[in-house]
Amino acid sequence: MRLPALTSTAAYQALENHAHDAREWEMRQLFAKDPQRFPRMTVEAADLFLDYSKNRISAETVELLVHLARTRGVAEQRDAMFAGEKINITERRAVLHTALRMPRGKQPKVDGQDVNADVHAVLDRIKVFTDKVRNNGWLGYTGKPITDVVNIGIGGSDLGPKMAVLALRSYSHPRLKMHFVSNVDGHDMDAALSQVNPETTLFIVASKTFTTAETMMNAQSARSWFLKTAKEADLPRHFVAVSTNTEAVRAFGIDPENMFPFWDWVGGRYSVWSAIGLPVALAVGFGYFQAFLQGAHEMDEHFRSAPLEQNMPVLLAMIGFWNRQFLNCTSLSIAPYHQDLNRFPAYLQQLDMESNGKRVTKNGQPVDTPTCPVVWGECGTNAQHAYFQLLHQGTDVTPIDFIAALRASHDLPGHHDALLANCFAQAEAFMKGKTDAEVRAELKGAGMSASDIEEMVPHKLFPGNRPSNMILMDQLTPATLGALIALYEHKTFVQGVVWNIASFDQWGVELGKVLAKKIQAELTGEADTEVHDSSTNGLIAKAKAAQIL
Ligand code: F6P
Repeated sequence: MRLPALTSTAAYQALENHAHDAREWEMRQLFAKDPQRFPRMTVEAADLFLDYSKNRISAETVELLVHLARTRGVAEQRDAMFAGEKINITERRAVLHTALRMPRGKQPKVDGQDVNADVHAVLDRIKVFTDKVRNNGWLGYTGKPITDVVNIGIGGSDLGPKMAVLALRSYSHPRLKMHFVSNVDGHDMDAALSQVNPETTLFIVASKTFTTAETMMNAQSARSWFLKTAKEADLPRHFVAVSTNTEAVRAFGIDPENMFPFWDWVGGRYSVWSAIGLPVALAVGFGYFQAFLQGAHEMDEHFRSAPLEQNMPVLLAMIGFWNRQFLNCTSLSIAPYHQDLNRFPAYLQQLDMESNGKRVTKNGQPVDTPTCPVVWGECGTNAQHAYFQLLHQGTDVTPIDFIAALRASHDLPGHHDALLANCFAQAEAFMKGKTDAEVRAELKGAGMSASDIEEMVPHKLFPGNRPSNMILMDQLTPATLGALIALYEHKTFVQGVVWNIASFDQWGVELGKVLAKKIQAELTGEADTEVHDSSTNGLIAKAKAAQIL
């Protein structure tokens, strides 16, 4: 469907008019006026709870936003995605990560292909393999059980599995230590290798394309390191691959028997549900990996079937759109109040920014509105003692997604109440702020002189009225983690549809890759230098001089 420019649509213009007044609203007053605001502005799905009441919105705002989503074709595009239509237009591919978590026998054929059978055949292999490794049925070349797993991959072949393994720490196998090497910086591989023993280490080379420079270099280094003590014939017990590219896996020297395949219709940043999730299945076991898939599937079902006005991903997306578009918020901060989710902000950075960091529409025209905000964040309460100062009193307004579990996965007394108290208090503080009168009363109560009060008031004021969402789950489990990731996947999808951008490609990462190859050849002396601007030439010369020293 060829969409008109966003700002030219009646639905957008209605929002623009509405925003004219809404920009003046104070959330304190919105709460005071409507005691039912919390029950009205909360929604539950797949064991997640979203409170979106602390946004600068009214019921009418939500109606207008949902109307815009409807007129942009969110429901039709969603159905096209689930049906396996080639909605990744620039790569001419289907987008079927939802099929990876579809129960056996439930996904209809796509283009005559029994995708569901393919997916479950790989899952069956993952079960057999992970059971073996976990239960000492897969031994290293000297007959010892595997103690360490090193996942070598980058971007989607690293961020998802690493984030999920950390998040599910309390479900992990006590013997298996998981390591993740992504950076071409040798310090990354060096740090991992210094902790492991070749006799008991399993390397997973994870790359959708099996051509990514960083991963190939790291895999070669791991192989050379392994062959310092072991023989070529020992490689199959210690190196497995996850990829869509059988030929490249074979060329690298890994027997395709030891390869777990996936398909070109799985985007890298949507691939944790595929064999790219092998480290997760190894760490938590196949049963919990299935629960992880099931949690995501429940969110898929909600996304597919709930009316748009009660649809959690749609609401999260459209509120994000409102903040970006009409309140001019250029970034979104993610604040998980759960230490085990400490890589979740990094994971979301790729998911959101690689998907929607685009400046032309699907028709190739410049977009007429801003698109994806900068996504960043850190766990609470650490973030409170680092950058929350700016979020409370800085000149930019940054919306925050708070994420918390009502019950802890540890039994240390007192900690969880303290954590939740901080989480809820921050959301309240961002919403309410502290008025001039409140600051004065507080300082007066503390016995401060009138002149000191005058001096201090501006510094102690909190403007408040700063938007946030609160996402709660009972406990961080494989299922709730799956639902949480799927929630954000679908949120990203909905925003991409509204902006009418191609969310499933990533051409913007190509230029740097090409230039790096060129400069690498210059640094190693395989190519002439002095072909760049004076700054780049100067930097190359400096690096070369340092090599000679
Ligand atoms: O360079 C970006 C990117 O293509 C990501 O989209 C992807 O997740 C990552 O590189 C890794 O790609 P691969 O799995 O093919 O090695």
